[in-house]
Amino acid sequence: MRKNIVAGNWKMNKNLQEGIELAKELNEALKEKTLKCEVVIGTPFIHLESVVKSVDTTKIGVAAQNCADKKSGAYTGEVSAEMVASTGAKYVILGHSERRAYYHETAEMLKEKVKLALENDLTPIFCIGEVLEEREANKHFDVIQSQIEESLFELSAEDCTKIVLAYEPVWAIGTGKTATAAQAQEMHAFIRKLLVEKYGLEIAENISILYGGSCNAGNAKELFSNPDVDGGLIGGASLGVDKFMPIIEAF
Ligand code: 13P
Repeated sequence: MRKNIVAGNWKMNKNLQEGIELAKELNEALKEKTLKCEVVIGTPFIHLESVVKSVDTTKIGVAAQNCADKKSGAYTGEVSAEMVASTGAKYVILGHSERRAYYHETAEMLKEKVKLALENDLTPIFCIGEVLEEREANKHFDVIQSQIEESLFELSAEDCTKIVLAYEPVWAIGTGKTATAAQAQEMHAFIRKLLVEKYGLEIAENISILYGGSCNAGNAKELFSNPDVDGGLIGGASLGVDKFMPIIEAF
C-alpha cells in the first residue's frame, strides 16, 4: 500500500539557527503522537545535516530541495545527490516549478537528477504542474503527461516505485488559491492512469501522489480525503509548527 506523506518545503526561508529551531519544535510536537502519515521537511542545503541531527529521523524525513544533474566535478556552486545523501537526508524535491521557471531546469536535466538521486538511495519528490494559461487553454493534462513522460518514463518499474510525485498547479502556489478537491482528484487520477498504462496497476497503486499549492489547515482534510491524493507538499504553511501540525493531523 502506498504511503500518506505530508512534506514541508521551506524554500529559501529560515537561517540556520531558525531552521534548527523549527525542526526541534516540530520534533517535540510529534513526539507523543501516533501519526497516520510520514512527515518530511525540505530544507535549504546548509541546514540538512543539522536538521537531521535535531530530529527523530524515524518520524521526520529530511529532504533537500534540489541536487545537481552531474555526479561530481568542476560545477561551482552545485550540490550533488551523493553530498545530499551524506548528510543523512533521505529525500530530494526535484523539478519544482520555481526551479523550472527561474533556473531553467529542463526535462532532460531532471531526468539526470532523478537518476542520480536514486543511485544515492534518495527518494525523489518529483514535482509537476501546469501554469494558469495552460489550464485555461485546457492543456493541463497534456502538460502533466509530457512532464512525467519526459523525465520519468525511462525508469525501470522497480525504480519508479521509489518515486513520490507531487502535483503542484503553478497557479495555486503561494497564491492562496487552491485547486478544488475535485480538480486535485481529477488530475491525480489522470496521473495514476498514466502510471498504470506504463508500469501496471500494482506499481501505480504503490506510488504516492501529493498535492501542493496553498494547502493549509483549512483545506487539507478535504484534499486528502480524495482516493488518489496521498498527502501534500506544503510551502508557506510548513514554516510554523502551529500551521503545519493541523495539516499532518488532517490524516
Ligand atoms: P505554498 O503551500 O506556499 O502554496 O507552496 C506550495 C509549494 O510550492 C510546495 O512545494
